[in-house]
Amino acid sequence: MSDGGTTRASTFEHEGARKIAEGLEHLSGFGNEHSSEAVPGALPEGRNAPQRAPLGLYAEQLSGTAFTEPRAENRRSWLYRIRPSAAHPAFTRAGNGSLRTAPFTQTVPDPNRLRWNPLPEPAEGTDFLAGLWTLGGNGDATQRSGMAVHLYHANASMDRVFGDADGELLIVPERGGLLLRTEFGLLHVEPGHIALIPRGVRFRVDLLEDSARGYVCENYGAPFRLPDLGPIGANGLANARDFRAPVAAYEDVEGPVEVVNKFCGNLWAAIYDHSPLDVVAWHGNHVPYTYDLRRFNVMGTISYDHPDPSIFTVLTSPSDTPGLAGVDFVVFAPRWLVGEDTFRPPYFHRNVMSEYMGLIEGAYDAKAEGFVPGGGSLHNMMSAHGPDRETFDRASAAELRPQKIDDGLAFMFETRWPVSLTPQAARAEHLQQGYDTVWQGLERHFQPLH
Ligand SMILES: [Fe+2]
Repeated sequence: MSDGGTTRASTFEHEGARKIAEGLEHLSGFGNEHSSEAVPGALPEGRNAPQRAPLGLYAEQLSGTAFTEPRAENRRSWLYRIRPSAAHPAFTRAGNGSLRTAPFTQTVPDPNRLRWNPLPEPAEGTDFLAGLWTLGGNGDATQRSGMAVHLYHANASMDRVFGDADGELLIVPERGGLLLRTEFGLLHVEPGHIALIPRGVRFRVDLLEDSARGYVCENYGAPFRLPDLGPIGANGLANARDFRAPVAAYEDVEGPVEVVNKFCGNLWAAIYDHSPLDVVAWHGNHVPYTYDLRRFNVMGTISYDHPDPSIFTVLTSPSDTPGLAGVDFVVFAPRWLVGEDTFRPPYFHRNVMSEYMGLIEGAYDAKAEGFVPGGGSLHNMMSAHGPDRETFDRASAAELRPQKIDDGLAFMFETRWPVSLTPQAARAEHLQQGYDTVWQGLERHFQPLH
């Protein structure tokens, strides 16, 4: 699973990257019209494309939505850079490694409940891009609909630069901090945080420890946004002010830099004669960001019954059907359970949506064992699932005192269409055998009244 071609970063390099990561400034807010300049005067005032941009920079627009999409959904940024992005040689095909793209048609869609252990150790010198391993997904990247579930396991920082024309990348670290060097500046994420790289934005990933592991949702559809709050009101769930965008920071590097472009499912590479992370100033709302999941303002019952897990939605990518998400990102964050006369763990259910779940740390309250950090489960459309037997027995008999759930951090990519597997996921050695048995032994308790 490695064709990274990079060298393993030394402890010294990790320490250097960590020092940078921990000293970063940021801009606050989700979807804001941010602006930032690394050099005073680099950002033009009053217009986007002056006859001569300040400081000899080139002005360039990066569109995340069509020019004409409604204002509330429109995403674009203006970049002021040392060279325009157009200044590059031809891209040529590169190996895709273990990265795959929708449509996923190589396996028969599987109605079974499936669960995987964490990815195996990568080969020496595997960077974030080479470490990406696709589990499956749905839709069609060329139609800008659907999503892919990837996992990553890396042990080297990237020397090359990556950009994804197929979709935005929601990165969910499970092990190891990351320093993301993007066109817009630097971002720092640790397990328990998420990072989002918008469609087309170029970036490199530095590891802050010897290895890094986690999950990625590649969203081909509409950009993730905060969900509407309806009767919840003006505040709650993920609060907009807790999202962090970078401040402008640039690389002034002359010399060969490999740039990899994911386009319609394939990787293409070109050797630039400079770093494309050369944006000195920018403004706009098509920007990368991070969010600390522990800041999620969890809502739940204060009377009875377990709310539907949509109440835990952090970000949603809407479809053209109101209320139907292409994909939702949902977090099961620490929270109190106080429901009276209520089966408190997640209920048994069959869902028209398909659910991929991962675990960032600790345990999940519907499974006693087998669902481990770095692993994941897939409960496809209409597959019956819920608490395992042990959890059912315990929760049915538990004394219903107020109870704090604070021993784990799980999440879900919930999507409108079934998730089809890649052959590598369907045949993986780390695919668990016998997951069905967790629901065996759910005994008959029915006692008809006579
Ligand atoms: Fe579920």
